[in-house]
Amino acid sequence: MQDDAETRLTEAVIARLSDKTDPRFRRIMHSLIRHLHGFVREVELTEEEWFEAIKFLTATGQKCDAKRQEFILLSDVLGVSMLVDAINHRGADGSTETTVLGPFFVHGAPEIENGGDMAAGWKGEPTYVSGQVRSTEGRPLAGALLDLWQSNSEGWYDVQLADTGGKRLRARLRTDADGCYRVRTILPTAYPVPTDGPMGQVLHRMGRHPMRPAHLHFMVSAPGHETVVTHLFVRGDPYLQSDAVFGVKDSLVVDFRRSESEDEAQKLGLKAPFYSAAYDFVLRPATGAKQRSARSAADTAPG
Ligand code: BEZ
Ligand code: FE
Repeated sequence: MQDDAETRLTEAVIARLSDKTDPRFRRIMHSLIRHLHGFVREVELTEEEWFEAIKFLTATGQKCDAKRQEFILLSDVLGVSMLVDAINHRGADGSTETTVLGPFFVHGAPEIENGGDMAAGWKGEPTYVSGQVRSTEGRPLAGALLDLWQSNSEGWYDVQLADTGGKRLRARLRTDADGCYRVRTILPTAYPVPTDGPMGQVLHRMGRHPMRPAHLHFMVSAPGHETVVTHLFVRGDPYLQSDAVFGVKDSLVVDFRRSESEDEAQKLGLKAPFYSAAYDFVLRPATGAKQRSARSAADTAPG
């Protein structure tokens, strides 16, 4: 049974919010205090649990550096990232659905020509991905920028590995005059989100696996249009229904067709057997206020 002193405490903290502070900040803090106090009351948090939470948040912060963002991972595994994504990309206007950015985006991926090889000798199953970028009005977007990144065939991103010799399995390329793109790479594979930090322990205690289904990351942008941050998922992956970060949307699940044809492979600059996938990206006109910006772990580092 909640006593009056508890209610008064919540009201007192809210009442200290200055009228002169920014209205949006005030609204966020008001709601945060109300929900946080409500949560503490609902679970009747013990002092030991409170201290466990302090230790957990401390460890989460200590795990962060210019290459690792454990707080984004916390947001991801609790579904908060996908909730923010859903709220900010409402409306079925035919534009490509968005999903989590994840912690492995890095600014300044190498620029390659349209049709180039982003795997650059990295071992894996040769894969060709192609399609068109157009606006919701159906206009092909020439010169649209595609920023791609993926893990290697063992499930590691370059930033997780030592001595990769720079940015690997990442590329930026532009669409041609017809808005078309083509890229050669290797088949993505399912992989676990990092489990060597506090989030690994949380997933374990919740009885959840850490796996993400195989995917390729895309950030697609064109002047005057909202940037799309999304993935293409490989149809048939066993983790599509239980992605550790809740990022799968049906419209983003794509056939990666296997071919053994040497002729076909040669035409695409690959070796058989190889996989190919086709996907068109559709961008909605920008409304101005809501341009999605990509943030890397480095953007959160102090200094
Ligand atoms: C990723 O797809 O790279 C990713 C997304 C969320 C958490 C961890 C990894
Ligand atoms: Fe990923």
